Amino acid sequence: MFYSDDLIEEVRTRNDIVDVISGYVKLQRKGSSYFGLCPFHNEKSPSFSVSPSKQMYYCFGCGAGGNVFTFIREYENFTFPEAVKLLADRAGIALPEQEYSEENKKKRDLRMQVLEVNKMAGKYYYYLLHTEQGARAMEYLKNRGLTDETIRKFGLGYAGQYSDSLFRYLKKQGISDSILKESGLVQFNEKQGMYDKFWNRVMFPIMDVNSKVIGFGGRVMGDAKPKYLNSPETIIFDKSRNLYGLHAARSSRKKNLLVCEGYMDVISMHQAGFTNAVASLGTALTSQHASLLKRYTNEIILTYDSDEAGTRAALRAIPLLKEAGLTAKVLRMEPYKDPDEFIKALGKDAFQERIDHAENSFLFEISVLQKSYDMNDPESKTKFFQETARKISEFELEIERENYIEAIAGRYQISFEGLRKMVMNCLMQGVPVRRQPVRQSMAPEKDDGIRKSQRLLLTWLTEYPKLYPLISSYIEPEDFTDELYQQVASMLYQQLSRGELNPAKITSQFDDPEEQRMIAKIFNTEVRVETQEDTKKAIKESIRKVMANGIEQRTAKLDPADMAGLQKLIAAKKRLQELNRLHISL
Ligand code: UTP
Ligand code: MN
Repeated sequence: MFYSDDLIEEVRTRNDIVDVISGYVKLQRKGSSYFGLCPFHNEKSPSFSVSPSKQMYYCFGCGAGGNVFTFIREYENFTFPEAVKLLADRAGIALPEQEYSEENKKKRDLRMQVLEVNKMAGKYYYYLLHTEQGARAMEYLKNRGLTDETIRKFGLGYAGQYSDSLFRYLKKQGISDSILKESGLVQFNEKQGMYDKFWNRVMFPIMDVNSKVIGFGGRVMGDAKPKYLNSPETIIFDKSRNLYGLHAARSSRKKNLLVCEGYMDVISMHQAGFTNAVASLGTALTSQHASLLKRYTNEIILTYDSDEAGTRAALRAIPLLKEAGLTAKVLRMEPYKDPDEFIKALGKDAFQERIDHAENSFLFEISVLQKSYDMNDPESKTKFFQETARKISEFELEIERENYIEAIAGRYQISFEGLRKMVMNCLMQGVPVRRQPVRQSMAPEKDDGIRKSQRLLLTWLTEYPKLYPLISSYIEPEDFTDELYQQVASMLYQQLSRGELNPAKITSQFDDPEEQRMIAKIFNTEVRVETQEDTKKAIKESIRKVMANGIEQRTAKLDPADMAGLQKLIAAKKRLQELNRLHISL
């Protein structure tokens, strides 16, 4: 969806950053800024600042920063259009509708109607759970240790004891038969006519990342089969692209996501404080799930059941996760069956401990492999190590191979050298090398003082716009070192020359959150100065440094035939020498 710059700017200015962030972080005024505990990293004393005049935030601890859009994107894990939508809604601004083709429009309308039916059904089930009819279901949930708060948070419900309660209810609300069929909640056959997909079951609404109900799982309250029924795939429900609990887990602010098998596992984990748990919906994890997860985290901890099926599921999930660029670890549940039972038996501290000691996925694979070999039989044992060596040899980096050789030699009865030789043999036989996902790492910015001076100047310009004529007479945007700095400087100069000051608007011109974070850093650079005199000295010193560096840069790039450029350089050098006489007033 494309929105014009003007509209984006309107949405931004109508959402005061202090107001918006106050909804997420407790802020306290300190001088001209507000401070609070940073929501993007763990801290005990506040280094997260929000500036009403700049309409930007910046954390002096972790470097998170940007404008109100950046905040919503980072906090809610939203895309830019999603952030615009949220803030437009918040400010009561209507966004233009996208142009749809006739067919797309029909599809969209159908989606909306099916979503609406699911929402109504969710509310209806929730209502029934709280009536006389739902007493047994409520008792069932309570017996499983769920609190009212949890029942509310997950919107759990009861499907009613008759086979057509929902059908009759939705008909009364005026829903057409065709939409009912599309929703998958009502079925049809010749003998019975229309009847409910779910009845006499405890209901688990399944939500997408935006907390919209897209389907249901329904559990029997005893041992009957099938234990769970699930909504069929519909126009809005695609099991391979949705994860149960993700709508809540995505803003859990934990460094990883826990992936488990069942509805009850997710709910138990959330109730115990592990709000980063999600489950695939009774199907194996898919590569689409993996890329969905990658949007929210870099590390997955698999908390699958401890039975054979769970182990197999984990072994299948690991390569998919790695392929998507995720690190995977495996949490062992033994001697319990699943997270729900584990937490019930041992509590959350014990579970946290298991999380902290979750096993590296490769070592997990090796330990599963080992179980199919008899380590007391020399021949079998040799085969195990040969297979292990072959697997290790698939790692591309030598250091990685050595680390695994070391870890495995420490666990099983083999020496480091012995295993290393076997790995070398495999490598020499030319085993195909496994493709490792290439991880992009942003090279840390070389912060050599000069960039800091450049940032300081730009920060001061936002704090003392009066300095603009002076600073701009000495320093041009091209004197800044990096392209990003140059762009920011030139936009700020343009604003100031019009008598405008709006750093948050500048931030909006950049799409990449990394760049937005850098811009927040540029506008929030600090030096320790006590007095106004010191500030003046510091400003002068920064002008000198940035100028000198700019002259050096321009000299290096100067085309010998460029006479005008040369003249300018000479003039600049002269001004640099005269800088001592400069008087600054704040
Ligand atoms: P489990 O059999 O492990 O159930 O199935 P559970 O989650 O531990 O549930 P409780 O604790 O017995 O209530 C794991 C998941 O597989 C899907 C469901 O999503 C379930 O949560 N499943 C299981 C089905 O879809 N249908 C079934 O009949 C069984
Ligand atoms: Mn269970």
